[in-house]
Amino acid sequence: MKILITGSAGFIGYNFCKFLLSNTNHQVYSIDNINNYYSQKLKKARLKDLKKYKNFKFYKFDLCNKKKLEKVFKLKFNCVYHFAAQAGVRYSLINPRSYINSNIIGFFNLIELIKKNRVHKFFYASSSSVYGDSKKFPLKETHVISPKNIYGLTKKNNEEMVELFFKGFSTKCIGLRFFTVFGEWGRPDMLIYKYLNSIYNKSNKFYLNNYGNHTRDFTYIEDVKEILFLLLNKKIENNTVVNICSNNPVKITRVLNIINKKFKYKPKIYKRSFQKADVKKTHGSNSKIKYLYNKKKFIPLEIALNNTCNWYKKNWKIFT
Ligand SMILES: NC(=O)c1ccc[n+]([C@@H]2O[C@H](COP(=O)([O-])OP(=O)(O)OC[C@H]3O[C@@H](n4cnc5c(N)ncnc54)[C@H](O)[C@@H]3O)[C@@H](O)[C@H]2O)c1
Repeated sequence: MKILITGSAGFIGYNFCKFLLSNTNHQVYSIDNINNYYSQKLKKARLKDLKKYKNFKFYKFDLCNKKKLEKVFKLKFNCVYHFAAQAGVRYSLINPRSYINSNIIGFFNLIELIKKNRVHKFFYASSSSVYGDSKKFPLKETHVISPKNIYGLTKKNNEEMVELFFKGFSTKCIGLRFFTVFGEWGRPDMLIYKYLNSIYNKSNKFYLNNYGNHTRDFTYIEDVKEILFLLLNKKIENNTVVNICSNNPVKITRVLNIINKKFKYKPKIYKRSFQKADVKKTHGSNSKIKYLYNKKKFIPLEIALNNTCNWYKKNWKIFT
């Protein structure tokens, strides 16, 4: 099968490319603009690892470049996984335009070509951020969506665009509402890696927002990879959206306590007030993914964090 994966230098895209390349014979084609939202050194290290595989091909360009995208689509893909986007909630207060460019214009360029080239399956990253602040948990896919930042709004817009654009059309589409994905090769702008980096840098100041009272449904990358692979081989009846979450909400302070047990040095934590783009709690229901795609078990948080810390201990230099 010929599979296109966007965002292959990113956290989820890299991990899924690696999974496909090591476990299947599929031809993996990929695109990333290697932007500088976070360490380009980390993105290049991920790509270097993927380039070892002969059935991996990489194209460096921005999805806003329609001409280059059109050229790549001449390859006729069976399936597209779309992970390239401007990620991050807080950055959307600083640079909202980058979300409009990548997540709206880049996204539309991609879906236009998917439709024109009659790609069979399209899986695209949405986010738990589409739900916004909610009081009723666990959040089901049928729950009203009401994002509270530009990032979440672009993801809501992606879901709505797909629904209208592919109505009555043969391409089967699934929007993947990821909830706080973490693990090996993770993102340095996210809490777990920020904390690990401050341990290694022996930083004596670690800022904890909302006085440590945030709760997140942490989802391990190993579970995510397995789900993404299950989607590939499953018959898809209708266009839909699914929560990709572990259904296990955990307070941030508990996560830091588990990590603390693995290291001697503990950064001094400064608790500070709530940041306005954040939501206080995420907790998704994963019954749809369990039922539709037969994913029964999720790796326990302690094991997943242990693996992440062990990986970081061996690879911390990539982050410096
Ligand atoms: N990691 C999470 O917890 C999480 C949670 C919810 C949603 N998501 C979504 O999942 C997807 C993957 O997330 P991630 O954590 O791997 O993020 P990431 O930032 O590590 O990966 C995204 C990659 O896309 C590339 N990119 C961005 N804009 C591009 C453009 N216009 N053209 C080409 N390449 C571009 C970046 O260089 C980056 O390598 C994103 O859409 C993100 O919004 C992630």
